[in-house]
Amino acid sequence: MADRLLDAMARAAARGYGGEAVSELEHALQCAELAWDAGADDELQLACLLHDVGRYAVDQSLVSDATEPTRAGPDARGHHEVGAELIAPWVPERVAWCVRMHADAKRYLCATEPDYFGRLSAGSRHTLRLQGGVMAAAEIARLAGHPWLAAALALRRWDDDAKAVGKAARPLSAWAPLIRCWFDR
Ligand SMILES: [Fe+2]
Repeated sequence: MADRLLDAMARAAARGYGGEAVSELEHALQCAELAWDAGADDELQLACLLHDVGRYAVDQSLVSDATEPTRAGPDARGHHEVGAELIAPWVPERVAWCVRMHADAKRYLCATEPDYFGRLSAGSRHTLRLQGGVMAAAEIARLAGHPWLAAALALRRWDDDAKAVGKAARPLSAWAPLIRCWFDR
């Protein structure tokens, strides 16, 4: 599984990240680097590295919220859900949860932080609609006390910032040991 994942990530260097000017791989590496810079633990770094795995390591006919037009099938779901399911058998539950939550974290922040929506890119605003829009009060109340919410919100903010063209980040090979630690078992 580690080889399969690393191969999919290497190939993601040739895929644009939604409507952004960076590749899927650059986006993943920048997101993980931001987490590392901030002193996040290994689990959260791994979640950041893999948060969009549903966009590039999964048959896109299973994904309903791709920014490019796809031939999504009737059972298609959001990339966050499909990606979380792909990695869930291999990683700590908190990692898969943070990956699954990264669309809801955006919906949560749009509802709870007045300035947040204005900072989102056009592509991210577009997928917000596909992902259910701004979160309603009842859902916010259900999430508010979750012990992993802070981690999911941190991932989301690094996700939003990991779109800088030409920004230096360590290469995929630097992250291979962390991926192998969980996916080579
Ligand atoms: Fe992302």
